[in-house]
Amino acid sequence: MASLSLTINGKKQTIDADPQMPLLWAIRDVVGLKGTKFGCGIAQCGACTVHLNGTPIRSCSTPVSAAAGKKITTIEGIGTEKNLHPVQQAWIEEQVPQCGYCQSGQIMSAVALLKDKPSPTDADIDAAMRGNICRCGTYGRIRKAIHTAAKLSKETASASGK
Ligand code: FES
Ligand code: FES
Repeated sequence: MASLSLTINGKKQTIDADPQMPLLWAIRDVVGLKGTKFGCGIAQCGACTVHLNGTPIRSCSTPVSAAAGKKITTIEGIGTEKNLHPVQQAWIEEQVPQCGYCQSGQIMSAVALLKDKPSPTDADIDAAMRGNICRCGTYGRIRKAIHTAAKLSKETASASGK
């Protein structure tokens, strides 16, 4: 066991955990944030995607010690109910989810993509989202929603004079 300092969604906290514990376990079972999901556990499905210093990573196969001292962002940290992230807003507008299980991972990958490429092409979207599997096959709506989110982000930026 070790004492590890984690910053999750801007909040600093210290946890006692095995340094090799998957970050996903720490987020869900130790810290209690249940929005990030466990799918395959072997870095193949993307359900567990979170951001580490802004980069999407698979939290099921990242040891918690590798995240200590870095900025961890989970689905709970990208927007609020009153102030949704444009990707969340677009997900609602395009009615993306079916069962919903894969969707927090999908959204975290989409947020990272739009930060990198504010106006992604279909090919950019397909390349960035390839690692996020959806058993319900919502891929067409995900693509549409990412284009919608790109538009919403621009509208928000121009309304705020950015
Ligand atoms: S649960 Fe991490 S990639 Fe599937
Ligand atoms: S919405 Fe069901 S797995 Fe993606």
